Amino acid sequence: MSVDSRKLLARPLQDEPSLDVQGFDRPRAFMDRVAEDLAPLLEIANRPVLTARQFGRDQLVQLCRLAARYETQPSVINRPLTGKILISAFYEPSTRTRLSFESAWHRLGGDVMSITDPLSTGLAKGESLFDIGEMLNHYGDVVVLRDSDERSVYEMLEALRIPIVNAGNGLDEHPTQALADVYALLKWRPSLVDGHSDESPARIGVVGVPGRMRTIRSLLILLSRFAPGLAEIVIVTDEREPFEPDQREELEEAGLRIEVVDDLDVVLPTLDVVYINSIAWKHGDYESLGARYRLSEQSPFKPGAIVLHPLARGGELDRSIDATAHNWYFAQARGAVFIRMALLSALSKTYA
Ligand code: CP
Repeated sequence: MSVDSRKLLARPLQDEPSLDVQGFDRPRAFMDRVAEDLAPLLEIANRPVLTARQFGRDQLVQLCRLAARYETQPSVINRPLTGKILISAFYEPSTRTRLSFESAWHRLGGDVMSITDPLSTGLAKGESLFDIGEMLNHYGDVVVLRDSDERSVYEMLEALRIPIVNAGNGLDEHPTQALADVYALLKWRPSLVDGHSDESPARIGVVGVPGRMRTIRSLLILLSRFAPGLAEIVIVTDEREPFEPDQREELEEAGLRIEVVDDLDVVLPTLDVVYINSIAWKHGDYESLGARYRLSEQSPFKPGAIVLHPLARGGELDRSIDATAHNWYFAQARGAVFIRMALLSALSKTYA
């Protein structure tokens, strides 16, 4: 591949993110809809964050409200975490989750210690996560852990007296990614907060496998908190058994109406939101699921439809969509910094 370095060098850099990228200018509409009330966040203070299940609707709305304040008024942040240390332990690769957590903590004034290679710690000598957790109590104020084994976060939690945040545990859950997804959705359509709108309820397509993808498992749980504003959740998959036992029943009991289809292009013109992911982490490696489903600028989108993706992307999300109004995935990734700032503020009970 040849790179035209002269063209790249001549390209002007921006002081601010481009407002012509969809969704970057939307937090204000959401703030106008919701009054700030920090009371629901008190239940989060000094607690571990393990699963999307632990978040109720009011907490989600207020976390997003706080995130929107941080996103729109960065100059008012008075570095409330000065002197506090985040231990960022990523035993599995990550671009967005690790760096956005670290960016969030830095923006709140704190310091960060990172582990990016498990073999650089006592794990290489057979030390248990319980014993490592006991040490971390003395070194920092919050732990963020990603690990391919879904039990790891619970093993470390047993020894911890400081909060731990699950940043992705194997195939199980990715609750803070789901927070970022919900933040993007509430900015896109603030009426999802209460379901009162002149617009038709949103029809959300989820391309992926709920029983084997942690992002989708956590997202569906959080979407159930906003069921009154949603029409159907359409799961697009070619798997015969896309759900774990009882998973679909739990979501339907929580109010979601779920449809399962296998042809993306047939259902695409009816979808207001398309959430697509094709990577499932499995035992320290990844499995590509649903590789036959692909979105590009040529796909038959409904006018005004938005595309979300937790990223990293593969062939399922063509770069031709990046410059279109369907692209909300970059705003979703940017918003992850602010929603993680809100979560870390709530955990530490120190709001900027
Ligand atoms: N969305 C997400 O979890 O991305 P990373 O794997 O880069 O953290």
